[in-house]
Amino acid sequence: MTRRRIAVLKGGRSLERQVSLRSGARVEDALERLGHDVVGIDVGHDLVVRLRDAAPEVAFVALHGRDGEDGIVQELLEVLGIPYTSSGVSACMRCSDKVAAKHAMRDAGLPTPDFYAFTETAFKEMGAGDALGAIEDRLRFPVVVKPADQGSALGIRFAAAAADVPAAIVAAFSYSEKVMLERHVHGRELAVSILGDEALPIVEAVPREEDFYDFSARYTIGRTTFVCPAELGDDLTARAQGLALDVFGLLGCRGFARVDLMLEKGTYDLYVLEANVIPGLTETSLLPQAAEAAGISFDDLIGRIVELAVPAAAA
Ligand SMILES: Nc1ncnc2c1ncn2[C@@H]1O[C@H](COP(=O)(O)OP(=O)(O)O)[C@@H](O)[C@H]1O
Ligand SMILES: [Mg+2]
Repeated sequence: MTRRRIAVLKGGRSLERQVSLRSGARVEDALERLGHDVVGIDVGHDLVVRLRDAAPEVAFVALHGRDGEDGIVQELLEVLGIPYTSSGVSACMRCSDKVAAKHAMRDAGLPTPDFYAFTETAFKEMGAGDALGAIEDRLRFPVVVKPADQGSALGIRFAAAAADVPAAIVAAFSYSEKVMLERHVHGRELAVSILGDEALPIVEAVPREEDFYDFSARYTIGRTTFVCPAELGDDLTARAQGLALDVFGLLGCRGFARVDLMLEKGTYDLYVLEANVIPGLTETSLLPQAAEAAGISFDDLIGRIVELAVPAAAA
């Protein structure tokens, strides 16, 4: 292995700062165990100065959410000529905007739940609220209301009836300028992680209680257990992994990513919810669990991610 000087970018100002600090600390430890020369950088006003001082050969981007996962920090790294882990600017932009990603999938014929998206301006200045009834008729209840560009389930609500929709929309607008109403898929929740050009074993998130419409209950620590590899049978496993690889390719992802899917109860149809270009790397995160199930230790995973980021000629 080549010993490299690596900057780990973590923290930042996004709402997922705490998760990122945990991902980043764990990545730093792994890189040190692998023998690399590591500089941790909590991303702030002095980012460019610190990167210039550190002059790393590679930046490991362990940021989640806004500014970290949406192509902004990647653009800076491009300007500075520093190779970096995970996807490039355009893929980050496509994936961090769930609405843009879903349009790309729908245009390409990849299954994603039906949806309609509006900006706050459309509600304030174009009377979009008057179209809600028509949307609800098409999507049927429950509908999922979510901001276009957040992660970690922030601002997402399930609306069981028309009366729940306005408050859910207002809540979602507090996270984003654009909000989407999406058909609710009743079924099993799957996450397919991709490393390099391979899909790893699938993780299933299993709610402990059948609390399908109570989002906060479902996402409270301890209420969900993770099963990996998910018990799906060979056929469904291959279909879900193939679909995740198609999404990865379509959106132009690189290095690694995690694609979130729903497997609909009864029909066995798969639907893509979103692709995450920088999925969590904490002790409880899904990508490390999937790697582990494939026999790839956390340190090996981090080492492979770094090698995938370095231009082949320099390796
Ligand atoms: N259309 C949907 N049908 C059923 N469950 C959904 C739907 N959209 C989101 N969810 C639930 O909400 C979670 C988070 O949604 P997701 O779109 O992946 O956003 P994020 O992970 O960025 O917050 C999903 O993992 C799933 O449990
Ligand atoms: Mg998700």
